Amino acid sequence: MAIVDVQSLWKPAGTYLNTASYGLPPRPAHEALDAALADWRGGRTSWEHWGMPGEEARASFARLVGAAVECVAIGSNVSSLVGLVASGIPDGARVLVPDVEFTSLLFPFLVQEHRGVSVTLVPARELPNAIDRSVDVVAFSAVQMASGEVADLDAIVAAAAAHDTITVVDATQAVGWLPLDASRFDVVVAHAYKWLMSPRGTAFMAIKPGLLATVVPEAAGWYAGEDPLQTFFGPPLRLAESARRLDTSPAWFMWVGTAPSLALIEEMGVDAIHDHDVGLANRFRAGLELEPSDSAIVFCDVEGAAEKLESADIRAAVRGGRVRTSWHLYNTPADVDQTLDVLVG
Ligand SMILES: Cc1ncc(COP(=O)(O)O)c(C=O)c1O
Repeated sequence: MAIVDVQSLWKPAGTYLNTASYGLPPRPAHEALDAALADWRGGRTSWEHWGMPGEEARASFARLVGAAVECVAIGSNVSSLVGLVASGIPDGARVLVPDVEFTSLLFPFLVQEHRGVSVTLVPARELPNAIDRSVDVVAFSAVQMASGEVADLDAIVAAAAAHDTITVVDATQAVGWLPLDASRFDVVVAHAYKWLMSPRGTAFMAIKPGLLATVVPEAAGWYAGEDPLQTFFGPPLRLAESARRLDTSPAWFMWVGTAPSLALIEEMGVDAIHDHDVGLANRFRAGLELEPSDSAIVFCDVEGAAEKLESADIRAAVRGGRVRTSWHLYNTPADVDQTLDVLVG
């Protein structure tokens, strides 16, 4: 199916260019969530089936990033998943992070300073060259929320492999539009509420088995067992063998709204979504007389841009004093042209 054939699944009130803040649900996701809320309100069902979409979404995410499903843990946000990994790195480890990095990836390492973990910040572009044998962990976003910049994944992977450096990738601003192969990294973590067009509160972490073995599941509860329905009561500790041991119990309804969005992304294919999103972003850039780029996120410096967009009912974000637009499945060439019209006439 072509992207244009599914665009009626969304109903933005105006022109929506703010997926880097939060993505919009397609109709199947919204309807599934609505139905679950109605069942909840009426006390009409038991709860077990509300856990199943978490399993469907885990499998979808695994396929989307090319990871084995046994390597994927589910949680509620990025920082708590990264926190598990950060607590597992050795005392005194040296961590390299881009200087513009979002704090949900940075703070989990900074809070380890009491045990000698040190964090060095460098400009995102300099990351590959800054990886040497003194760097134990490199943690970075595949796409930076503060700039839209796409990391040089090949160069980072090569440098990390040469120096035995653990790679921790935050793919929150990438997965859903940027093809990404999790098998190249030790950890790929992502919150689903942006480019995966899900409710806030569902996140994934693909982690390599070797690293998983070093991570203590500090938030383990009934969901860290092989079958959560068998780990309700009492000792002994019975953790799943797989990355499921890092799961925390799901916020059911959020997962009900997540699984259908991931299924749709799989159906459309990330390569096609990439071409669509970057195509629109570059059409927009051309209208602003900017060079084409490889990102679905475009910052623009037009005088009074925020006010102009707001008065035309076009939703974008302001980050660091600049207007940030983000282009995704539900956007069209007409959205680009309307936005250019409003901004540069
Ligand atoms: C790169 C990145 N990571 C993570 C998040 C969200 O973090 P958390 O899941 O900890 O709320 C955002 C939100 O803007 C983000 O841009």
